[in-house]
Amino acid sequence: MADQAFDLIVIGAGPGGYVAASHAAHLGLKVACVDKGPLGGTCLNVGCIPSKALLESSELYYQNKKGLAQHGISLGEVGLDLGAMMQRKAKIVQTMNQGIAGLFRQHKVEFVAGAARLSGSGKVQVGERVLAAPHILLATGSVPVELPGLPFDGKQILSSTEALAFDQVPERLLVIGAGAIGLELGSVWSRLGSQVKVIEYMDQILPGMDREMAGQLQRLLQRQGLSFQLQASAKGAEVGKDGVKVQLESAGKASTETADAVLVAVGRRPCAEGLGLEAVGVIRDQRGRVQVDDHFQTNIPGLYAIGDLIPGPMLAHKAEAEGHALAEALAGHPARVNYQTIPSVVYTHPELASVGLSEEAAVAQGRQVRVGKHLFRANGRAHCMDQIDGLVKVLADARTDRILGVHVLGPQASHLIGEAVVAMEFAGSAEDLARTVHAHPSLSEVLKEAAWAAMGS
Ligand code: NAI
Repeated sequence: MADQAFDLIVIGAGPGGYVAASHAAHLGLKVACVDKGPLGGTCLNVGCIPSKALLESSELYYQNKKGLAQHGISLGEVGLDLGAMMQRKAKIVQTMNQGIAGLFRQHKVEFVAGAARLSGSGKVQVGERVLAAPHILLATGSVPVELPGLPFDGKQILSSTEALAFDQVPERLLVIGAGAIGLELGSVWSRLGSQVKVIEYMDQILPGMDREMAGQLQRLLQRQGLSFQLQASAKGAEVGKDGVKVQLESAGKASTETADAVLVAVGRRPCAEGLGLEAVGVIRDQRGRVQVDDHFQTNIPGLYAIGDLIPGPMLAHKAEAEGHALAEALAGHPARVNYQTIPSVVYTHPELASVGLSEEAAVAQGRQVRVGKHLFRANGRAHCMDQIDGLVKVLADARTDRILGVHVLGPQASHLIGEAVVAMEFAGSAEDLARTVHAHPSLSEVLKEAAWAAMGS
């Protein structure tokens, strides 16, 4: 079949790929986007969106089950229809799938269903078709990492994909890894009735996050019924009649833990299988990440990569920002991504959101830091919402007052962090944040008060 010519071929229709494709088309390029799966990639189909759907539903269930008597509301018995909860999740995913299809139609991006393979300079093979373009973007994301002793079996030793789709609530769920996935899905099933235990290799949950904030979150999750074993690792598993027996090792001591299901959430790795990168000679690092320059170009001219395939946090919004910047650059506009201000959110209850440096990282960089904190329990709106757990921590440079990092553990932290991101994007100071007038009563006042505290006022 004759080559079909485009300006840009995007491989992968996740948040990085579909944003790059639609934005480049919007800016006038002729674009094709290839994916072997549904539109939206991991994030929409088996990641961010379905997990947030279940987090919302399970939190509502948990709150109602605990009772709303203090609000003066009495309820009858609260029941769980897991099938209906899963259907709601599926419907949200479907609606968003259709949204991306609509976006492609609007911007005239041609979607090509199938597995893509690089086939020589500027060419991509999809089944019988050969597509050609001077620019090709790899945006194929990542897949869950498997532990050597606990290979996924899809039934009892599971990745996040299966743990989003149980058809009944497991009585005992063992989670390996206290990262974002482990804590979010652990929370979902704990709220719905599972006994959840989380095993973490490092000496804190969410390694890399501000240690004080992670410690506070761990305490709150324990209060909700989750249990944790830190500095322990999973070595192997045996599937038997009574469930899965997992061998653990902690400080040289072996122990076992038995559960009905085991969620292995120990990270993700770049996914480039079947693309033919080796044949083309694309340079990757030891972790399989594609090496790119400041303009996302690989060592092969005209071949680019973004998102989970390249170094940096594996976050949908990081991939989106890169897709957007690449589209602008290809259309001849200046574009860049500010990696210092990429927020990160763990959607537990309460949520933990942060941007910039943790206190440990700031100190390790030799910076003199002023730390300001304020508790949600000192905020009227938080009391009205009956959500007084948590705090905001603002880190400012002691010499210049410039904000170095902001950490929010509390209600709606994922929304509140946006203000801190904008302040940092504009190189704001703690004083800028403190003197900005915040609505009263609102949760955002906690940020303002933490900023005043960071100024020493
Ligand atoms: P992660 O890298 O965030 O956390 C994995 C955890 O497992 C780490 O704390 C690590 O120390 C621990 N671990 C590794 N090997 C272990 C072992 N043998 N035994 C016990 N613990 C072990 O990975 P996660 O949670 O699987 O997420 C994958 C990626 O997806 C991450 O990059 C994450 O940021 C991203 N993601 C982000 C979300 C969000 O922003 N809300 C939600 C879900 C995923």
